[in-house]
Amino acid sequence: MQAITFENVSYAYKRADEEFSGKAVDGVSLGIEAGRSVALLGANGSGKSTLAKLINGLLLPDSGEVKVFGMPTVCDDPNGLFDIRKRVGMVFQNPDNQQIASIVEDDIAFGPENVGIEREDIGRRIDAALKFTDMERFRYSQISRLSGGQKQRVAIAGALALEPDILILDESTSMLDPKGRKEVMEVARSLNKEKGMTIINITHYMDEAAEADEIYLLKAGKLLKKGTPDEVFSDVSTVEECGLELPRASMLAAKLKAAGINIDQKITTKEGLAEELCKLLLKD
Ligand SMILES: Nc1ncnc2c1ncn2[C@@H]1O[C@H](COP(=O)(O)OP(=O)(O)OP(=O)(O)O)[C@@H](O)[C@H]1O
Ligand SMILES: [Mg+2]
Repeated sequence: MQAITFENVSYAYKRADEEFSGKAVDGVSLGIEAGRSVALLGANGSGKSTLAKLINGLLLPDSGEVKVFGMPTVCDDPNGLFDIRKRVGMVFQNPDNQQIASIVEDDIAFGPENVGIEREDIGRRIDAALKFTDMERFRYSQISRLSGGQKQRVAIAGALALEPDILILDESTSMLDPKGRKEVMEVARSLNKEKGMTIINITHYMDEAAEADEIYLLKAGKLLKKGTPDEVFSDVSTVEECGLELPRASMLAAKLKAAGINIDQKITTKEGLAEELCKLLLKD
């Protein structure tokens, strides 16, 4: 089943005071199967956040159609968009400005309360969300006292309390230290693997992208390439054309190859690199 489909979607921000700035998303068509983990990559201003906002109906396309589980974001039924927003959770970049309440538990309850979920059910949802993000012991803590990674896990828990089918992380790890980044990625990974949740991770970290099932590369609002991490990262010129780097493991593999070591060109993760090096060592 397709979780997200775009059919020739374009969107331009309208600025009354300035000249037309061009399309932020330009003729994008794509289909993302439910349960996939996707990394959305592109340079600053390439349209990643705009595309994310088109998925949950925060923005509506100027032309073309966006569908979430078959439901178009533009439709006559006013409940349609409400349903879509419940199914698409979003976590943003800054851990310090996504909270509404000051205590963890209250913050997670806000979303479900807002959409009229029964009290008892809210309690159950908070329990599950805290457990999944490994934040149970912080239930009554002040959010302001948490680390960046913990704050982002609260933001994810808040999104989970709405029981979404799709979770979009819009550079949610970019302001975190390596430990916080790892915590957040672990939660995202288990949501995908254990719950079958569709994950869209917008990131500037190529090592995170290398773990996704598929990668979408955006350039100036256009979808330039789509494929597995192996396929995308072996197309070095296109990756560079998008102003991006390769994952560290791919860079190291390329250097080893250039130094005359017979190593697979398609390495994208450190596990893959370790495996390949072990094979070479055992051969001798
Ligand atoms: N609220 C806005 N009003 C006007 N133009 C905007 C607005 N938000 C984004 N844009 C423009 O739309 C284009 C796409 O922006 P978008 O934020 O989607 O890119 P992005 O890939 O998410 O970038 P970044 O990596 O910096 O987050 C850019 O040219 C940007 O300047
Ligand atoms: Mg952005």
